[in-house]
Amino acid sequence: MTMILALESSCDETACAVVKDGKEILSSIVSSQINVHTLYGGVVPEVASRIHVENISTVVTEAVKRSGVTMNDIDAIAFTQGPGLIGSLHVGVQAAKTLAWEFHKPLVPIDHMTGHIYANRFAIDHDLKFPLLALVISGGHSQLVWMANDWDFKVLGTTRDDAIGEAYDKVSRVLGTGYPGGPVIDKMAKSSKENYHLPTPKVDGKYDFSFSGLKTAVSQLIAREEKAGRPIIKEDVAYAFQETALKSMIGKTLQAVQDLHPAMVVTAGGVAANSRLRVLLEEGMKQFPKVELSQPPIKFCTDNAAMIGASGYIAYKHGLFGTFDVAADPGLMMPGEE
Ligand code: KG4
Ligand code: ZN
Repeated sequence: MTMILALESSCDETACAVVKDGKEILSSIVSSQINVHTLYGGVVPEVASRIHVENISTVVTEAVKRSGVTMNDIDAIAFTQGPGLIGSLHVGVQAAKTLAWEFHKPLVPIDHMTGHIYANRFAIDHDLKFPLLALVISGGHSQLVWMANDWDFKVLGTTRDDAIGEAYDKVSRVLGTGYPGGPVIDKMAKSSKENYHLPTPKVDGKYDFSFSGLKTAVSQLIAREEKAGRPIIKEDVAYAFQETALKSMIGKTLQAVQDLHPAMVVTAGGVAANSRLRVLLEEGMKQFPKVELSQPPIKFCTDNAAMIGASGYIAYKHGLFGTFDVAADPGLMMPGEE
């Protein structure tokens, strides 16, 4: 039995969890700062790190208390080393080192994106199956990742410009519907009609994505309608953006499934919470009945520490420990990524 205490503070969630064998969540506390950043229309790094400092001790104390175990029972401290906002990451890294020092526990530095992928351990009642194809989509990343084996990552394709979550957030800003854009657009698009047409993103790389042109097309569409004196139906713009972005991304994912024959496809990251993505991907994957599809419950798509505990468990099993010299790395690449 392996008990991991995990910390996550890469962006605007201060989180701590206690996870048993990378699968069973004994406690998971997520303190979101979203209400504060909404006031500014996006995450303000300086404000984010300050709130992490204010909250981290309470979040850790609460996670240990609710887990029903004591620090004696913890085998290792896993924490997000990167990627993310430097000031935010520092807080989690320092807290992890302090705990490791005080309680004589090994440190396990974790790449945030591997955490998103391993969150799928909470969605299925067996281990992940390999080879595995992960569609990793968050506020900072849009990647297709191939895992031939456990803890073996190869980035097949990535965005050439904006991450998809970033595009959601920017489109919402243009529409004046606030931050974070993903959940708002997801909801707005449900009460909409197919009214506008946007061009499908074009990108050379077979498994690469591009979302910046689409974002610009949304701004141009709004400007055109305004110039023509026509009212902008926000829901319909949200729908057109979402359908175009998701269909392009899912098209690439299904292409990779057809080419590479994974045993399993998983989604990961904040955008994986999207309700329309879940439906479209499930429909698309029907042509590959032998390939298992896992889409984690929404609370494990957006940032949390339990996922760092899941990934931390695998890293712990591989003996991937850090020293007290380990530093936050805002541009950290996934293991194996160039
Ligand atoms: O993984 P995450 O919580 O943080 C990062 O690691 O970046 O992802 C945050 C992103 C934001 O851009 C947010 O707008 C997007 O995930 N998001 C969504 C949904 N919920 C969150 N995007 C589309 N649909 C959603 N329901
Ligand atoms: Zn994330």
